[in-house]
Amino acid sequence: MTQDEMKKNAAWAALEFIPRNTVVGVGTGSTVNHFIDALASIKYDIKGAVSSSVQSTEKLKALGIEVLDLNSIDSFSVYVDGADEINAQKHMIKGGGAALTREKIVAAVADTFICIVDQSKQVEVLGKFPLPVEVIPMASSYVARELSKLGGRPVLRAGVTTDNGNVILDVHDLVITEPLVLEQQINNIVGVVTNGIFAQRAADMVLVGSATGTQVIR
Ligand code: A5P
Repeated sequence: MTQDEMKKNAAWAALEFIPRNTVVGVGTGSTVNHFIDALASIKYDIKGAVSSSVQSTEKLKALGIEVLDLNSIDSFSVYVDGADEINAQKHMIKGGGAALTREKIVAAVADTFICIVDQSKQVEVLGKFPLPVEVIPMASSYVARELSKLGGRPVLRAGVTTDNGNVILDVHDLVITEPLVLEQQINNIVGVVTNGIFAQRAADMVLVGSATGTQVIR
Protein backbone atom coordinates (compact mmCIF):
# COMPACT_ATOMS: atom_id res chain seq x y z
CA MET A 1 0.00 0.00 0.00
CA THR A 2 1.37 3.46 -0.91
CA GLN A 3 1.73 6.36 1.51
CA ASP A 4 -1.04 8.18 -0.33
CA GLU A 5 -3.40 5.20 0.10
CA MET A 6 -2.66 5.26 3.85
CA LYS A 7 -3.44 8.99 3.93
CA LYS A 8 -6.70 8.26 2.12
CA ASN A 9 -7.63 5.59 4.67
CA ALA A 10 -7.12 7.99 7.58
CA ALA A 11 -9.00 10.77 5.78
CA TRP A 12 -12.08 8.67 5.02
CA ALA A 13 -12.06 7.24 8.56
CA ALA A 14 -12.58 10.79 9.85
CA LEU A 15 -16.10 10.88 8.38
CA GLU A 16 -17.33 8.75 11.28
CA PHE A 17 -16.43 11.54 13.70
CA ILE A 18 -18.11 14.42 11.85
CA PRO A 19 -21.33 15.48 13.56
CA ARG A 20 -24.14 16.09 11.08
CA ASN A 21 -25.84 19.50 10.70
CA THR A 22 -22.75 21.37 11.81
CA VAL A 23 -19.99 23.46 10.23
CA VAL A 24 -16.76 21.48 9.66
CA GLY A 25 -13.26 22.94 9.99
CA VAL A 26 -10.99 21.90 7.13
CA GLY A 27 -7.18 21.95 7.09
CA THR A 28 -4.77 21.85 4.17
CA GLY A 29 -2.58 19.34 2.38
CA SER A 30 -2.64 16.09 0.47
CA THR A 31 -4.26 14.12 3.32
CA VAL A 32 -6.92 16.79 3.73
CA ASN A 33 -7.57 16.72 0.00
CA HIS A 34 -8.76 13.13 0.51
CA PHE A 35 -10.84 14.30 3.46
CA ILE A 36 -12.51 16.97 1.31
CA ASP A 37 -13.44 14.24 -1.20
CA ALA A 38 -14.93 12.28 1.70
CA LEU A 39 -16.75 15.33 3.03
CA ALA A 40 -18.35 15.88 -0.37
CA SER A 41 -20.10 12.54 0.08
CA ILE A 42 -22.02 13.97 3.07
CA LYS A 43 -22.27 17.57 1.85
CA TYR A 44 -26.06 17.69 2.17
CA ASP A 45 -25.77 16.65 5.83
CA ILE A 46 -23.41 19.45 6.94
CA LYS A 47 -23.82 23.20 7.21
CA GLY A 48 -20.71 24.03 5.20
CA ALA A 49 -17.04 24.40 6.05
CA VAL A 50 -14.51 26.89 7.34
CA SER A 51 -11.24 26.61 5.49
CA SER A 52 -7.59 27.13 6.39
CA SER A 53 -6.25 28.01 2.94
CA VAL A 54 -7.06 29.27 -0.52
CA GLN A 55 -6.15 25.80 -1.84
CA SER A 56 -8.69 24.02 0.37
CA THR A 57 -11.33 26.70 -0.25
CA GLU A 58 -11.05 26.17 -4.00
CA LYS A 59 -11.39 22.39 -3.66
CA LEU A 60 -14.31 22.65 -1.25
CA LYS A 61 -16.18 25.03 -3.56
CA ALA A 62 -15.42 22.91 -6.63
CA LEU A 63 -17.11 19.97 -4.89
CA GLY A 64 -20.16 22.05 -3.96
CA ILE A 65 -19.39 22.59 -0.27
CA GLU A 66 -20.20 26.07 0.99
CA VAL A 67 -17.24 27.88 2.60
CA LEU A 68 -18.13 30.18 5.47
CA ASP A 69 -16.19 33.15 6.85
CA LEU A 70 -14.73 32.21 10.22
CA ASN A 71 -15.85 35.59 11.57
CA SER A 72 -19.46 34.73 10.80
CA ILE A 73 -19.62 31.87 13.31
CA ASP A 74 -18.97 31.78 17.05
CA SER A 75 -17.96 28.16 17.32
CA PHE A 76 -17.95 24.81 15.58
CA SER A 77 -17.18 21.34 16.81
CA VAL A 78 -14.62 19.53 14.66
CA TYR A 79 -11.48 20.58 12.78
CA VAL A 80 -9.76 17.97 10.59
CA ASP A 81 -6.19 18.47 9.42
CA GLY A 82 -2.99 16.60 8.62
CA ALA A 83 0.47 17.02 10.13
CA ASP A 84 4.09 16.73 9.09
CA GLU A 85 5.06 15.10 12.39
CA ILE A 86 3.08 14.06 15.48
CA ASN A 87 4.36 12.70 18.81
CA ALA A 88 2.73 10.62 21.53
CA GLN A 89 1.46 13.76 23.30
CA LYS A 90 -0.36 14.69 20.05
CA HIS A 91 1.93 17.70 19.61
CA MET A 92 2.58 18.36 15.95
CA ILE A 93 4.76 20.08 13.42
CA LYS A 94 2.61 21.57 10.68
CA GLY A 95 3.10 24.00 7.82
CA GLY A 96 4.72 21.89 5.14
CA GLY A 97 2.10 23.38 2.86
CA ALA A 98 2.70 26.92 4.19
CA ALA A 99 -0.83 27.21 5.63
CA LEU A 100 0.18 27.04 9.31
CA THR A 101 -1.16 30.38 10.49
CA ARG A 102 -4.67 29.96 9.16
CA GLU A 103 -4.60 26.35 10.32
CA LYS A 104 -3.73 27.46 13.83
CA ILE A 105 -6.49 30.08 13.79
CA VAL A 106 -9.20 27.66 12.63
CA ALA A 107 -7.94 24.99 15.04
CA ALA A 108 -8.13 27.48 17.91
CA VAL A 109 -11.84 28.03 17.33
CA ALA A 110 -12.74 24.33 17.04
CA ASP A 111 -13.84 22.28 20.03
CA THR A 112 -12.05 19.17 18.75
CA PHE A 113 -8.98 18.76 16.53
CA ILE A 114 -8.84 15.46 14.63
CA CYS A 115 -5.43 14.86 13.09
CA ILE A 116 -5.31 12.55 10.07
CA VAL A 117 -1.92 11.09 9.14
CA ASP A 118 -0.24 8.10 7.60
CA GLN A 119 2.00 6.15 9.96
CA SER A 120 5.21 7.77 8.64
CA LYS A 121 4.27 10.98 10.47
CA GLN A 122 4.51 9.43 13.94
CA VAL A 123 7.75 10.38 15.74
CA GLU A 124 9.19 10.17 19.24
CA VAL A 125 10.73 13.64 19.15
CA LEU A 126 9.62 16.47 16.87
CA GLY A 127 12.16 18.25 14.70
CA LYS A 128 13.44 16.02 11.94
CA PHE A 129 10.91 17.73 9.67
CA PRO A 130 12.20 21.32 9.30
CA LEU A 131 10.00 23.60 11.41
CA PRO A 132 8.08 26.12 9.27
CA VAL A 133 7.92 29.66 10.65
CA GLU A 134 5.76 32.30 8.94
CA VAL A 135 7.50 35.67 8.99
CA ILE A 136 6.70 39.25 7.94
CA PRO A 137 8.98 39.70 4.87
CA MET A 138 10.92 42.75 6.16
CA ALA A 139 11.85 40.82 9.33
CA SER A 140 13.14 37.65 7.69
CA SER A 141 16.89 38.28 8.20
CA TYR A 142 16.43 39.38 11.81
CA VAL A 143 14.16 36.42 12.61
CA ALA A 144 16.62 34.04 10.93
CA ARG A 145 19.42 35.33 13.20
CA GLU A 146 17.22 34.88 16.28
CA LEU A 147 16.26 31.33 15.22
CA SER A 148 19.94 30.47 14.81
CA LYS A 149 20.50 31.55 18.43
CA LEU A 150 17.90 28.93 19.41
CA GLY A 151 20.04 26.25 17.76
CA GLY A 152 18.23 25.97 14.43
CA ARG A 153 19.38 26.44 10.86
CA PRO A 154 16.73 28.56 9.12
CA VAL A 155 16.37 28.37 5.35
CA LEU A 156 14.08 30.74 3.42
CA ARG A 157 11.55 28.67 1.46
CA ALA A 158 12.28 29.77 -2.09
CA GLY A 159 9.47 31.14 -4.22
CA VAL A 160 6.80 30.79 -1.54
CA THR A 161 4.46 33.55 -0.39
CA THR A 162 1.79 32.53 2.11
CA ASP A 163 -1.93 33.25 1.72
CA ASN A 164 -1.25 36.14 4.14
CA GLY A 165 1.51 37.67 1.97
CA ASN A 166 4.39 36.52 4.16
CA VAL A 167 7.45 34.28 3.77
CA ILE A 168 8.38 30.95 5.36
CA LEU A 169 11.63 30.10 7.13
CA ASP A 170 12.13 26.33 7.45
CA VAL A 171 14.23 25.66 10.53
CA HIS A 172 16.45 22.59 10.25
CA ASP A 173 18.43 20.74 12.94
CA LEU A 174 16.03 21.30 15.85
CA VAL A 175 15.49 18.58 18.44
CA ILE A 176 12.22 19.69 19.98
CA THR A 177 12.12 18.09 23.41
CA GLU A 178 9.90 20.82 24.89
CA PRO A 179 7.39 21.76 22.20
CA LEU A 180 5.28 24.01 24.45
CA VAL A 181 8.31 26.07 25.46
CA LEU A 182 9.78 26.38 21.97
CA GLU A 183 6.41 27.27 20.43
CA GLN A 184 6.16 30.20 22.82
CA GLN A 185 9.81 31.26 22.44
CA ILE A 186 9.61 31.43 18.65
CA ASN A 187 6.28 33.23 18.69
CA ASN A 188 7.88 35.87 20.93
CA ILE A 189 10.39 36.87 18.23
CA VAL A 190 9.24 40.14 16.69
CA GLY A 191 8.33 39.61 13.06
CA VAL A 192 7.15 36.03 13.52
CA VAL A 193 3.49 35.58 12.62
CA THR A 194 3.38 32.05 13.98
CA ASN A 195 5.36 28.83 13.93
CA GLY A 196 4.41 25.31 12.98
CA ILE A 197 4.60 23.77 16.45
CA PHE A 198 1.05 22.88 17.48
CA ALA A 199 1.53 22.07 21.18
CA GLN A 200 -0.54 24.73 22.90
CA ARG A 201 -3.32 23.54 20.62
CA ALA A 202 -2.49 19.84 20.30
CA ALA A 203 -4.71 17.34 18.52
CA ASP A 204 -7.50 15.69 20.52
CA MET A 205 -7.69 12.58 18.40
CA VAL A 206 -5.34 11.05 15.84
CA LEU A 207 -6.35 8.75 13.00
CA VAL A 208 -3.30 6.88 11.74
CA GLY A 209 -3.61 5.22 8.36
CA SER A 210 -1.47 2.15 7.74
CA ALA A 211 -1.47 -0.88 5.48
CA THR A 212 -3.50 -2.81 8.07
CA GLY A 213 -6.22 -0.18 8.58
CA THR A 214 -6.71 3.01 10.57
CA GLN A 215 -5.77 3.26 14.23
CA VAL A 216 -7.74 5.67 16.43
CA ILE A 217 -5.68 7.34 19.17
CA ARG A 218 -7.66 9.32 21.75
C1 A5P B 1 -0.15 22.45 5.56
O1 A5P B 1 0.41 23.70 5.79
C2 A5P B 1 0.32 21.47 6.55
O2 A5P B 1 0.20 21.84 7.88
C3 A5P B 1 -0.23 20.08 6.33
O3 A5P B 1 -1.27 19.78 7.19
C4 A5P B 1 0.86 19.13 6.53
O4 A5P B 1 1.97 19.60 5.79
C5 A5P B 1 0.51 17.72 6.10
O5 A5P B 1 0.48 17.65 4.73
P1 A5P B 1 0.18 16.33 3.94
O6 A5P B 1 -1.17 15.90 4.33
O7 A5P B 1 0.25 16.78 2.49
O8 A5P B 1 1.24 15.34 4.26
